[in-house]
Amino acid sequence: MTPWMILAPALAGGLLLAAGAAGQGGLSPQIAEGQRLYAEHCALCHGEDGRRGAGFQTPIWGERTQIRKFNTAFGLFEYNQMMMPFDDPSKLSDEQKWAVVAYILANHGTIPRDATLDPTRAGEIVIR
Ligand code: HEC
Repeated sequence: MTPWMILAPALAGGLLLAAGAAGQGGLSPQIAEGQRLYAEHCALCHGEDGRRGAGFQTPIWGERTQIRKFNTAFGLFEYNQMMMPFDDPSKLSDEQKWAVVAYILANHGTIPRDATLDPTRAGEIVIR
């Protein structure tokens, strides 16, 4: 494998994400908002660290996660839009759900923590 084969997908991925002003802890405003919303609406069942929830034992980011089945950032968003938070999916707006999706994907290493996820390009961001 040439270095380009490794570099090219990374560059392509980078172009899909607008670099935003990094806020606290190097998080973009969107991901900082996602972190806050996750703590308030998701951690109860999925755990602060995404893997020690009371209601759901499979981690939702990192090793052993099953979120790859949603294929892309858009797929993950669609699932969340319909299903999460499990107790009442209508609690959060679409914009808030994009923020939570960005937070999950930053934790999973799919996007950088200072990135802003653009919903119109989310179908191109593959979850590996
Ligand atoms: C009341 C408990 C509860 C809350 C709150 C909750 N979830 Fe869930 N979550 C679940 C359960 C139960 C499942 C499994 C549902 C199923 O398989 O049908 C699940 C599944 C998921 C999955 C799919 C993971 C997989 O491996 O299949 C994701 C992603 C997810 N939740 C994200 C979120 C996000 C983001 C929030 C907050 C906006 C949230 N959840 C809030 C209980 C909860």
